[in-house]
This record gives sequence, structure tokens and C-alpha cells, in this order.
Amino acid sequence: MLTQEEVLNILHPIEDPFLHKTLEETGGVEEIKIKEEKNHVSVKVLIAKTNTAEQMELQQTIVNALKNGGAATVGLRFDQLSDDVIEKFQPAAEEGQEASLLDGKTGTKFISIASGKGGVGKSTVTVNLAIALSRLGKKVGIIDADIYGFSVPDMMGVEERPVVRGEKIIPVERFGVKIVSMGFFVEDNSPIIWRGPMLGKMLTSFFKEVEWGDLDYLLLDLPPGTGDMALDVHAMLPSSKEIIVTTPHPTAAFVAARAGQMAIKTEHEILGVVENMAYFESKETGNKEFVFGRGGGAKLADELKTDILGHIPLQQPFEEEEVFAPSVYQTDHPIGVVYRNMAAKVIDKY
Ligand SMILES: Nc1ncnc2c1ncn2[C@@H]1O[C@H](COP(=O)(O)OP(=O)(O)OP(=O)(O)O)[C@@H](O)[C@H]1O
Ligand SMILES: [Mg+2]
Repeated sequence: MLTQEEVLNILHPIEDPFLHKTLEETGGVEEIKIKEEKNHVSVKVLIAKTNTAEQMELQQTIVNALKNGGAATVGLRFDQLSDDVIEKFQPAAEEGQEASLLDGKTGTKFISIASGKGGVGKSTVTVNLAIALSRLGKKVGIIDADIYGFSVPDMMGVEERPVVRGEKIIPVERFGVKIVSMGFFVEDNSPIIWRGPMLGKMLTSFFKEVEWGDLDYLLLDLPPGTGDMALDVHAMLPSSKEIIVTTPHPTAAFVAARAGQMAIKTEHEILGVVENMAYFESKETGNKEFVFGRGGGAKLADELKTDILGHIPLQQPFEEEEVFAPSVYQTDHPIGVVYRNMAAKVIDKY
């Protein structure tokens, strides 16, 4: 069991990533709470600049240090130091101004994957389309922009975390695809409470502070629906094109149309519609059953004046012993083939 004093001893030598002064010097440890029965330590730390790659790195440093010191679980909040303190320690802050993905100079094509509602397979489509594009020789990245419901790392079986080098986050790479997800920066799947401005900042740092290298395509798994968050992402990515995912049920397509309308309003071209869970094909008889209804994809494509990029039936990936990636369809899987054709269409169109 850690005491207040031991926690202070652990935290004090750690440096503020911007001021390069210890938290002891900056007075950055604002609050320590210890729950003895659960051996839980929660701390509030003040630093010069919040919501940055440096904060993420510091977060890992602090959590690791407290756990090594004996805490079972750690709660950590950041806030900004007062302007006086920042000024005292830092004469002039320099801002890196190199080319970033967002200024459109890198030639990377953005594809946002959107849906009207949750659970229709948006993340599954993002992951598998990205991998299919990569199998066709493209350099691909994924931003899991579904900040509340991030699932890309789990779907791809990613267990490692990105490392921070200098000022940049190095994305994790799996199946040739570079990945950044909010899930990487949250401990133990705990819920995060986001305030509006933080969302935008976090997303901006996913673009600006991640070392993406040279990418042909960057796919974004958007939060479901047409809420503020989805709108923010739209606004931030002026040149992104969109793929709308729906199930074949006419009602689902109706809801998805709203997401499509939003894309159109924010002047994002719609690349096409993906109809997921389109049917179930019996292995024994080869019979197709349209368990979730029929025609929704076509209706939606029609309404949005775009094409259908693919109909994906219901089926799980093959189970593999050596590779753990629960939502990734293999190259020789029937759905893997559907994704390959879809990727070829995307390359053709964009
Ligand atoms: N074609 C399919 N066949 C079988 N299962 C599927 C298929 N597509 C998606 N699933 C499963 O359906 C569930 C929902 O898919 P997914 O998480 O991709 O949806 P989502 O739209 O991203 O959901 P959320 O709104 O929660 O982010 C997952 O368990 C996924 O494995
Ligand atoms: Mg999802």
C-alpha cells in the first residue's frame, strides 16, 4: 500500500514534457487520493500543455511508475498549469510547423466510414477494407476515430501500444496497416469522459502528432450516427470521401441516408455504399436467406446517387490458431474475396 508521501516521491522526479522541469519544481502534483481497500491511487497532475502526444507518453510513465511502486490501479487526470507557472519556466515555446496530413500536401486520400446507426459493421468494414487495400499493395493507415466505442485494436488483435519518439507517436502496424486508436491511450477499457473541445484536440493530434509516413489511404472509423462528433470529423477533413455502411433492412437504409446527407452537406463526396450482413448462405444447400431484409443497400445507393461497393454476407472469419485477429477475413475466405473486390473498386474510383 502506497502512502501519500511515497506517491509524491514517485511523481516528483518526473519531468513536465514541455517545461523540462520536474513536477516537484513546477508544483505539478495537485492532488493525490488513495483508496486503501482497493489499493487504488488517483492523482491529478498539472502540465504546461494538455491533450498532446506528450501527455499520452507522460500518462504511461506515471501509470507505470505508480504500478511499479505498488498501486493496483491508477486514476489519472491532467489539467493545465497556471499561466504564471508556465511563463516562469518557459521563455519561448517553439511550434513544429512541418507538413501534416491535414494540409493536403501529402497526397494521402482520406476515406471516412460512416453509418446511420451503431452495430451495422462499420468497424469491421474499416478494418477489412484497409487490409484489402494493403494486400493490393497500397500503403494504408486507420484512425479509429470512434472515440467512445473504439474497437479497431481488438478486432485486429493488436496488443502492443504505440511508442512515442521525440514529438511523434509511432503507430502500431498489423497486417501491413498502421493503426492509431483512442483505445491505445485508455487504461483497462475504462470509460473516458470527454468534453467537447478535447475531442477535436485528440483527433487533431492523431493527424498531426502521429508519424504516419507516406500513406496512400487513411481510413477513419467514424463514431456512429450524425452527432456532433461525426460532424467535427467531417469539418476537420475537408477532402475526405465517404463510405456509408448499412444493413439490408429498408429502415436501416433510411437512417443511413441521414449520414449520407450529412456527408453531402459538408461537401464530402460519397464513394459508395456497403451493404453488410446482406444475407446468410447455408453451407449445406447454398441457399441464401435474407435474414435482415433485402434491398436496403440498393435503395440507399439510389438515394445518394452512388454505387454499391459490395454486399457482404454474414459469416465469421476462419478460426486460426497462430494468428489472433477476431474480425479479419483471410485472403482465401469468401468474405476476404468480397473485400478484395471492394478494395479494387475503391482504387478504381479514388
Ligand atoms: N458480415 C458479418 N458477418 C458476421 N458478423 C459480422 C459481420 N459484420 C459485422 N459483424 C459483427 O457484428 C458486430 C458489429 O460490427 P461492428 O463492430 O463492425 O459494427 P459497428 O458499426 O462498428 O458498431 P459500433 O456502432 O458499435 O461501432 C461485431 O460483433 C462484428 O463482428
Ligand atoms: Mg465500431
